[in-house]
Order: sequence, then C-alpha cells, then structure tokens
Amino acid sequence: MSSSVTFDVVGPVGLISINNPPVNAISHEVRRGLVDVIARGKDSNIKALLIMSSGEMFSAGADIAEFDHPLGEPSFQEVESRIESCALPVVAAIHGLALGGGLELAMACHYRVAHTNARLGLPEITLGIIPGAGGTQRLPRLIGARAAVDMILSGTPISATDAKAKGLVDEIAEGDLRDAALKFCERVLREGLGPGPTCNRTVSDNLDESDISAALAPHARALKGRTTQNLVVEAIKASKLPFSQGLAVEAALARQSLASRESQALRHVFFAERESGKLSGAPANSTQGQPAVIRRVGIVGAGTMGSGIAMAFANAGLEVLLNDYDPAALARSREFLSSTYASSVKRGRIPQEVANERMQRIHSTGALDEVANCDLVIEAVFEDMELKKEVLSKLDFSLPPERLLATNTSTLSVTEIARATAHPERVLGMHFFVPAHASKLLEIVRTDHTSAESLSTAFRVAKLLKKVGVVARDAFGFIGNRMMLDGYWREAEQLLLEGATPAQVDAALEDFGFAMGPQRVSDLGGNDVGTKARAQLFKRESRPDPYFVIADRLTEMGWLGQKTGRGFYLYENGSREAVSDPEVISLIEKLASERGIRRREINDKEIVERCILSLINVGAMVLEEKIAARAADIDVVWTSGYGFPRHLGGPMFYPDTLGLPHALQRIRDYHEKLGHYWRPAALIERLAAENSSFEEWDRRSAAR
Ligand code: CAA
Repeated sequence: MSSSVTFDVVGPVGLISINNPPVNAISHEVRRGLVDVIARGKDSNIKALLIMSSGEMFSAGADIAEFDHPLGEPSFQEVESRIESCALPVVAAIHGLALGGGLELAMACHYRVAHTNARLGLPEITLGIIPGAGGTQRLPRLIGARAAVDMILSGTPISATDAKAKGLVDEIAEGDLRDAALKFCERVLREGLGPGPTCNRTVSDNLDESDISAALAPHARALKGRTTQNLVVEAIKASKLPFSQGLAVEAALARQSLASRESQALRHVFFAERESGKLSGAPANSTQGQPAVIRRVGIVGAGTMGSGIAMAFANAGLEVLLNDYDPAALARSREFLSSTYASSVKRGRIPQEVANERMQRIHSTGALDEVANCDLVIEAVFEDMELKKEVLSKLDFSLPPERLLATNTSTLSVTEIARATAHPERVLGMHFFVPAHASKLLEIVRTDHTSAESLSTAFRVAKLLKKVGVVARDAFGFIGNRMMLDGYWREAEQLLLEGATPAQVDAALEDFGFAMGPQRVSDLGGNDVGTKARAQLFKRESRPDPYFVIADRLTEMGWLGQKTGRGFYLYENGSREAVSDPEVISLIEKLASERGIRRREINDKEIVERCILSLINVGAMVLEEKIAARAADIDVVWTSGYGFPRHLGGPMFYPDTLGLPHALQRIRDYHEKLGHYWRPAALIERLAAENSSFEEWDRRSAAR
C-alpha cells in the first residue's frame, strides 16, 4: 500500500488518511493509494468511508509538478468515479485548505464536513488551467452555475461558513475534526442517508450571457490578455449536459488549457516564486544557513519607507520598534499610520479591532540604542551614503553580532555601507517597493561578504511578510532597476524623442499586458523621485545618463506628475485620469530637435518590440554578470514588482517562447539601426547559437 494514503478501521468507519507533505498534493502515488484503499470498503464490517488528511491542510490540489508529462493512471476522474459510485456513503473531512483537485476530490465524496478553519477554492485559473477533475461539473450541481462561475473565475478560496451557506459543505465542525467527522458518519448511518452522488444532481439555475458578463466584469483587469476564462465559461455551460458528457467536455477543455502558452507561463512563475526563496547553488537538503527567529523588528528612520516597512511587519503580527531622532518625524509617521489604517477600515479591508491591534504593535522611540533589543534591524533613513554608514556603524556596535542588519536602499552600494561595520557578514540590503506594506516584491541584496545565515533570515522575513524574496548581487540598480533604466524605460524615452507620444507608448505597453505604461508609472511615483534616484545611481557607476532627458526636464520644470497636477500628462482638479498634454508634446519635439533627432511615425508594434527586447537584452547581461543567479529570479522580479504580465511568464521566459535566435536577430537589427546601446548580450548570442533557452541555462546552472 502507498505510504501516502493509509487506512484504519474505526468502528463501522473505514478511515482513509492522505499524508503527502508539505501540502497533501494529490500526486500519482496518492491517486494510486486512494484506489487501493477504496477497494477495502468492500469489507463487510465497514459501513462508511471517511477521507481526511494529516498536516496543515486537506489538500492543495493536483501535483502541479506532474503537469508537464501525461498524468499517470489512475486519473483523477477514475479515482473520483470510484468514490462517487461507492456503495457506502463517503464523507470528506476538510481542514485548512482544500484547493483545486483537493476540493474536486471532496466534491466527488457524498458528504463534506468542514472545520471552521477551512477554506475551499478552485484557484486553477491562476495557473492558466480550468478545474479538470470534475470541478466545473460538480460545483454547479452543488452551488448553482452562477455561484460556480464566480468562484472559479475569482480563484479565491471561500470560508467554511460561506461554503455551508452556498451548499458546498454539509456541516461545519469546531474542535476536533476527526471526532466531529466520525459523529457525522454515525449520523449518516443512523438516519440511513446512504450515498448521495453529486453527479446525480442537476444544476438548479441557468447561466445566460448577462450572468457571464457580470461574472467576468470584476476580474477584467486581472484577466486582461488571458483566455482561460473563456474555457471556464464553456466548461460550466456544459454542466447542463448529462454528467458524463459534461465531464468529457471538461476533459477536452482542460487538455487545451494545460497545453496553452498561458498556462506554461503561469506555472513557470508559480515555481519560480517558490524557487527564488532558496539560495541558488545550495544542495536541496542543506540547511542553507540557519535563519534566526524574528519576533521584534527595529526600523530606523520614520519617513515614508520606514513607516511602510513598519506596517508590513505589524500586519504580519510582529512587534515593531520605529526609531527616528526627530520627534516631528515620529509624530508624522504616527499620523500616516493611523490614517492609512483608518482608510483600510473604511474600505472594509480590515475591521477596526484589527487596525487597533496593528497600530498597537508599532512602538516609537527617539533613542537608537533601544533597537539593540530587536531580532532584526532595518535602516530606512534618507538615501545618503554618509548618513547610512553612520547609522549602520552605530547599530553594529550596539546589536549582538549574530543579528541581521539590513539597509533599505534602492540606489546605494550595500557593500560600501557594510564597510562601516565590523561584521559585514550580517549586513544585506532589503529593497522594499512603494507602498512597502502592500507591494509583493522584496529584493534581497547580497554583498560578497553576506553570510548564508543572513540570507536565510532575509528569506524568512520575506515569507513572514508574504512577499516574494529574490536575491540580487550588489550592483548598479540590482536586478529590477538596472533592467528598467538600461532597458525598458530608457527605450520608452527614446521612442518619445523619435516620434511617439506618452499616450501611445503607455497604451501599447498596457495592451501588451503591463499593468501601467512607463510614463504613467513615472507620473504616479513622481518624476522627481526618478530623477533623484537616477542621479544617485549613475553617480555610483560614475557613468553619464544621457537618456532620461524628458523626465529630467519635467522635474526641472516642477511637473512632477500626479502630485503637482501635471507631468507627462495633465491631471485636472486632482483627478488621477491622465489627459494628453500638447505642451509636453511640444517640449518633446524641442528636446528631439536639440539632439538632431528627426521625429517620425512609430507604430505600436515597434514600441512594444523595442521596450521588451531591450528588457530581455539587459536581463541577459544581468545574468551574465551574476547579478541574478537564475533567469527565473528575473521573471519573479518583473512579474511581482514591475507589472510585467504574469501570463507571459516574465522577461526571460517570454523570449524562450519566441525562440532565442529570433529575439537575437531582432536585437541585432536594432543594434545596426540605433547604435551601441543595443549591443547584444553575449549570453543571448551563446544560447541562440546553441538553439538553447534561458530555462535550459537555469537547469544547467542548477546542475553545476
Ligand atoms: N503541487 C505541487 N507542489 C505544490 C503544490 C501543488 N499543488 N502546492 C504547493 N506545492 C509545493 C510548493 O512548490 C512548495 O514546494 P517547495 O517547498 O519544494 O518549494 C511547497 O509545496 C510549499 O508551498 P508554498 O511555499 O507555496 O507554501 P505556502 O504555505 O506559502 O502556501 C499554498 C501553500 C497556499 C497551498 C500554495 O502552495 C498554493 O497556492 N499552492 C497551489 C494551489 C493550487 O493552485 N492548486 C490547484 C492545483 S491545479 C489542480 O488541482 C488541477 C486540477 O483540476 C486537478
């Protein structure tokens, strides 16, 4: 018998237990084990079967790692059909998460008992696939087609209470789930309820076109450029057919979704995000350095960044000590924190009690020494090398040497900052993005001296904050900003000088799938912020910046973006709506003519191609220079921090799908036309010559 599925007899109940850590994925082995134990229900002493799981959750669904190959027998459908057609009542007892194939398995059972802590969902759409284990046929039979389409399109799990109200579960259990589920089985037997296969039910409501539009509308932004949603709708419509026909439609659509580029890309990002939180090159079973336990965090500097970081930790349940030498800064920070929490309460995101608790976790002090008691200290003072060095040197003196010291910088050399300490091994950069409490990405910047323990602790911090942590070597712009400044954003400015308009550049890139085009992003963050950051960065490299002439001129003119009502666009009467500004176009024309650039018509295809190819080319340089350890890490940085469309897999996965020889040829064409800054990266040349890919490069690097 498979060790991941066990069978025990408890009175009249055959207790089937799934045990496949860490998330009880329904792997090939689990499916085989389930078929074996269901057969034991034929024992005449057993009157009901109960399926439960050990560990923290019922199941996170099918084993996604198996999706690249044909799934081994027995299939999900086979296992579910054996459960559903079982002559004994079969009960699923759900705790923690029941996702995807896990929930689909539970829906094939005759009854479902859910613990109050349970959350049930079909998140397949986030992986570019449709629920393919009967979910699109059984869910509408249990909760109705309209509710099912909503639940599957959102991909978000619902609570046990909600599931009970919708008819997805039969009973909610508090306390010990095993006891409650065994009692439920007794009741089923006592009352002679018998098996009640979901497949025998009919769907109670009709799904018409207006229902479908209403269900799609709230997800329009998240699903822009995607196709899986259409397959979901088609599959749910098929739930009106006899069950076996509906299942066949679902199976065909599931195969189609699984083979799509969209799904390959989304699955790539799923695993890349998990892999990025591991030290590259460390053997899988190594400790990678023991992470420290973090309960209390010190933050030095109570400006926008420091306050946002404080919120991020307080929201994750940690105690925070926020330090600033300036009492006025601390008072402003307190005001900012309470108004941000108040607005979260007002928008219904959190209840008042939760806001109060979070606020109470953030303590303030004017004395730097006091943060010495914290398990980790993050310095978030102004971007000023001397000031940062002074703070780090003081902290280094007062903080026990095994505790992590992080500097929050986006532009300065972490190596240089660490030189101010006697323990550079415990210093690293934590590059938080604005707003620090809500953004998903955390760039962890390592120097040549940063220890494995420090990196492990930083990974733990990212996980605690529910952010994706990616390690970057300390170098100009780290991963994200280097690629933005030397590639994507620089190209966007060039296109403006050559003839495009801000609205055209933004619209083309938004059509490609970026959450927001580069000029709108610049206006949102503040053109002055970009100008200042670039000045710091280019100073670091002692290299000139001849490229961002428009943004820098706007900064000089005080046209800083949304906050001043005009930037690349006009924002009338405090509105966030970007309106094209003829004066900006005239300014661009003037700047272009001063540089001898003859403006011309530029089409959207060229805009997208140049911005994306330059991003890819610089990404390859970032890999060559070992600033990123894996191409997949770059994909994570860009999909989680810079709005690159996730369903295209990231700037390194995307060219693999185009074919590297093709991407290289186009880069060479632009090199010829536009000059030296389009020099192809040596790595792309090498990989293209071998007809290889970035994915292959990652595989080979991992094996080395
Ligand atoms: N299959 C394979 N591996 C999985 C997995 C799955 N469904 N879910 C999680 N894992 C792995 C992760 O890759 C990770 O592995 P490593 O430790 O080797 O990196 C490990 O389990 C732990 O995962 P997380 O780091 O993500 O842990 P977490 O506690 O932060 O999150 C989770 C847990 C919420 C379950 C999250 O992992 C998750 O969202 N998983 C995917 C859920 C999902 O999409 N399920 C649907 C699958 S598709 C399906 O079921 C199709 C169908 O119709 C049959």
